[in-house]
Amino acid sequence: MTTRHRFFTTPIYYVNAKPHLGHAYTSIAVDVATRFNKMMDNTTFFLTGTDEHGDKIVQAAEKQDTSPKAYADQISRLFQDLLPFLDVSNDKFIRTTDPDHIKVVQNILASIYDKGDIYFASYEGKYCFGCERFYQDRELVDGKCPDHDTEPSLIKESNYFFKMSQYQDWLIDHIKSNPDFIRPKQYETELLSFLKEPLEDLCISRPKSRLTWGITLPFDEDYVTYVWFDALVNYISALGYPDGELFNQFWPQTRHFVAKDIIKPHGIYWPIMLKSAGIDIYEGLNVHGFWNVKGSKMSKSIGNVTDPVEVTEQYGLDAFRYFLIREMVFGLDANFTEDNLVSRINSDLANDLGNLFSRILSMHHRYFKGTVPSLADEFKTDTALNLEPQAREAIDAYVSSMEICAYHKGISAVWQLISHMNRYIDTQAPWVLAKDEANQAKLAAVMVNLLEGVRVVAGLIYPVMPQTSRVMNQTLGLEIPDNKEFYTIDELRPWGQLASGSATQKPGILFPRIDTKKADTQKQETIKAVKPLKPPVKDQITIDEFSKIDLRSATVLSAETVEKSSKLLKLQVEVGSEKRQVIAGIAKQYSPEDLVGKQVIIVANLTPAKLMGETSEGMILAANDKKNLVLAGFDTTVKTGNPVK
Ligand code: ME8
Ligand code: MG
Repeated sequence: MTTRHRFFTTPIYYVNAKPHLGHAYTSIAVDVATRFNKMMDNTTFFLTGTDEHGDKIVQAAEKQDTSPKAYADQISRLFQDLLPFLDVSNDKFIRTTDPDHIKVVQNILASIYDKGDIYFASYEGKYCFGCERFYQDRELVDGKCPDHDTEPSLIKESNYFFKMSQYQDWLIDHIKSNPDFIRPKQYETELLSFLKEPLEDLCISRPKSRLTWGITLPFDEDYVTYVWFDALVNYISALGYPDGELFNQFWPQTRHFVAKDIIKPHGIYWPIMLKSAGIDIYEGLNVHGFWNVKGSKMSKSIGNVTDPVEVTEQYGLDAFRYFLIREMVFGLDANFTEDNLVSRINSDLANDLGNLFSRILSMHHRYFKGTVPSLADEFKTDTALNLEPQAREAIDAYVSSMEICAYHKGISAVWQLISHMNRYIDTQAPWVLAKDEANQAKLAAVMVNLLEGVRVVAGLIYPVMPQTSRVMNQTLGLEIPDNKEFYTIDELRPWGQLASGSATQKPGILFPRIDTKKADTQKQETIKAVKPLKPPVKDQITIDEFSKIDLRSATVLSAETVEKSSKLLKLQVEVGSEKRQVIAGIAKQYSPEDLVGKQVIIVANLTPAKLMGETSEGMILAANDKKNLVLAGFDTTVKTGNPVK
């Protein structure tokens, strides 16, 4: 296999409402693609983020009586916190309010303008405020916006336009000559049929008299850019376009992932923007369908907007990830109901996978005390007992499906191996073999094949269920090369990797069955058993609640160790004109002399507490970075005692 650099992206999500099931799905789908590509020995970069400009955000902020930036900060934080909670392993999180991003958007606008592809004109058209764009009559349904079901307003104003129409033939040709550009096929067909009609030029500005929450055009201060012209550029600004190292390494080997709602901006505006700006065109766009909930489109008025945090807390993270990836045929719509979820957990996870795993490991402990037996020569080539061909078939089918995001098929290939192994156990009946001393060598051969088969299963489920994969590998006593948390496909293939004499652990229950009759009590047990390892997203608080926390800048005057404690340090800090003693659990990371003179942030109105007999009047803020604590501070010196907000 050759190592390639591959760049994966989710859409950057609007911050006008908190994340729901649909956002969680795309982020998990891209996580699966990224993890699978790592298994293929590719070097990956995974980007996600939030789209923060435009009218929608201004309106949402107004409703909460706050500024657009404060509002965006608050919702963007929810999107960011959701990622580790869902085990989504992004490398970067971009916000369109980042100063670096703003510079790149202006740079692209300037180069397209200089090229002569942007012109100024007066325009009258039908504008949907919900979509923040003009509509053509033929795009409207009964004269209404198809997304918002509202009549657009007639607006007349002067604006800047992007000459998309002159690139129409080039784009049609590009799509036709790159069959993997839009996946799956039905969306390529949809785009090409849209492109049969003449393309309108795109209005890319909004007058500041109407909207100020956006990026100012570099060639006209009275206008901000249209939100899509800002948003799409995130995919290259995040890589440090034009000369960042990431950009050089990863662009254009890019696969964008979006749902069908935003295929036009990604399949039409974006490639044409790149072409006009003289930037290579991205490699491909993967389009998935929509999750409906209980048969209807998610909507606040129906009350079926599904919170991924709630589902995960109730059913466990890997079960949730598995369900989303297995249930949706990538490209088509899917339906989310609790019944579907529970039935997949019970049949696929508890019954097929969970049973297989616990059967094999229990037998291994019953018949071999958990020690891997050696395989007698006579059985090495015994075709009736050898599971290697089925494992190889599963790996091949899995790889070819996962490569084209046919996730449901990739998973099915693994589940075929699982079913085959469950039948193999029934046919070989190890409990019968175990009764007869003469069958010991055969029993050992059956056991080794089963352990090897389940090793392959554990490896293949990694992209979808990383935690379960880890637990299975640990139980099998496997040590993954290079301290990775996954096996590459090449590492997974060779048969016979469980060394004879090595030990497995007794199995725990991977997925407890959910008893639908006494669902409530059972669900509680499930939570305990498969609780995600990551911290949950905290409840939102209001600005008033937040302002009760009195954060202050402080300077450390002196520091010493606390007797009999390896964790605690006793600090004397200056907070304005006041001196205080604070006990901080940072002795493992900082020595007392590191701290003297350091500026820190303290929670000044915390009720005093006693720690190891010492009084602590406040708490010092630190980031928890994988067991390491890093003190929070300021990037220049500030006066002590200042409020921190
Ligand atoms: O469109 N089912 O942001 P957005 C599946 N900011 N996926 C869904 C979904 C559903 N019911 N609902 C949303 C925007 N999604 C722009 C994007 S990119 C340069 C700018 C997912 O918050 C899906 O990925 O409306 C969809 O494309 C995206 O969220 C839309 O997110
Ligand atoms: Mg949307």
